[in-house]
Amino acid sequence: MSSTMATPTVLLENTENQAILRLSPPIGGLAVRGTIRVPGDKSISHRALMLGALAQGTTEIEGLLIGEDPQSTAHCFRVMGVEISQLNPQHVVVQGLGLGNLQEPATVLDAGNSGTTLRLMLGILASHSGRFFTVTGDDSLRSRPMSRVVKPLHLMQAQIWGRQGNSLAPLAVQGQTLRPIDYTSPVASAQVKSCILLAGLLTPGSTSVTEPSLSRDHSERMLKAFGAEISVDPETHRVTVTGPTQLQGQKVVVPGDISSAAFWLVAASILPGSELLLENVGVNPTRTGILEALEHMQANITHENERMVAGEPVADLRVRYAQLQACTIAGDILPRLIDEVPILAVAAVFAQGTTVIRDAAELRVKESDRLTAMAQTLQKMGAAVTELPDGLEITGGTGLQGAEVDSGMDHRIAMSLAIAALGAQGTTAIGHAEAAAISYPNFVKTLAAIT
Ligand code: S3P
Repeated sequence: MSSTMATPTVLLENTENQAILRLSPPIGGLAVRGTIRVPGDKSISHRALMLGALAQGTTEIEGLLIGEDPQSTAHCFRVMGVEISQLNPQHVVVQGLGLGNLQEPATVLDAGNSGTTLRLMLGILASHSGRFFTVTGDDSLRSRPMSRVVKPLHLMQAQIWGRQGNSLAPLAVQGQTLRPIDYTSPVASAQVKSCILLAGLLTPGSTSVTEPSLSRDHSERMLKAFGAEISVDPETHRVTVTGPTQLQGQKVVVPGDISSAAFWLVAASILPGSELLLENVGVNPTRTGILEALEHMQANITHENERMVAGEPVADLRVRYAQLQACTIAGDILPRLIDEVPILAVAAVFAQGTTVIRDAAELRVKESDRLTAMAQTLQKMGAAVTELPDGLEITGGTGLQGAEVDSGMDHRIAMSLAIAALGAQGTTAIGHAEAAAISYPNFVKTLAAIT
């Protein structure tokens, strides 16, 4: 007796040391349809937990991302004496200790895979006078550059030591009263900017930071909402915080993460017959580079129900299939779509013409070297991709073939490859797919629901 069972489109196989995601789109192609509520914004979630921990009184957070990265932040602050209720997306309560009152931890603070946790926390720890801290992270984080925050903190007279000229974690920090600086950052990085601003909260005087182009401004918005003395010069992008200041606990509503929505925006754009409604997506202009890039590529995306929620702009995004056209992505837009370059590379494979992405060297020091990771995996699937020192050149129209690829334990690579696989012929197996849980724990479930 023979049975004919259709191959499931989405299959997650948990082995002893990794999860393998197998995607087998049906012959003739696949459309994605439905309504999706993406998880809370990762950047805003970290900041809500941190400012809640530093503020006086209670902070209530609605919509927190329950991913591994915010769990790392919550863990570190709990170790320093902050009471944080069990994390859930509906309601999280942080009992703030008041600025300067973090306890010296009796153990190493482990930021896991999270660069935002480690870099922002360094500014906070360095300014906590009289306490000693040690911080570390996973294999990936221990290889990522920390000098970009250690250097300005040293200029503030912070005492921080680590491997390779104090540039790699594990790092040791002897907290003390710092001196204010007026720092010009060589990189447009919200992590660098936020680290310095957080260090400035406890520092007497005005601490300023200027970046070459504008990076995400969630810290500025949230610090203002918590009552910090902060000003922004829109012409020069110079942000100044005056300390010492006190923060007051707030109610924070975290919008959906546009960086998570990006996977679905591209999925629906490249798969004929698709239509998705993405509800409650944060559309802060410092994060919407992905929407501008896809618009240049002639994607069909409409904004519905635009509104302000707790100081951040939010909208529902409707996306329908459209034949994409190649474009050039370079310059000031990069910081506003920095985490979306891997999924844009997938979009480019399905666009007509040659897409060029430049000025994206920062991708080499993310959770993995994302330029090499995307070039090598998409090449393996049959795409015409050339790796440039600071970007990618991708000629669309080749189609993709299913292949065995690996996320390299990078969440955004895992999810970008999953979307590429939906548009490929045959089965794609993605190794270390569990990495998606860093920022999107329900990613595979959602994928299965819309295919
Ligand atoms: C983040 C800033 C960005 C981004 C990261 C989150 C933040 O990093 O890539 O995922 O929350 O501040 P850089 O500041 O290094 O560009």
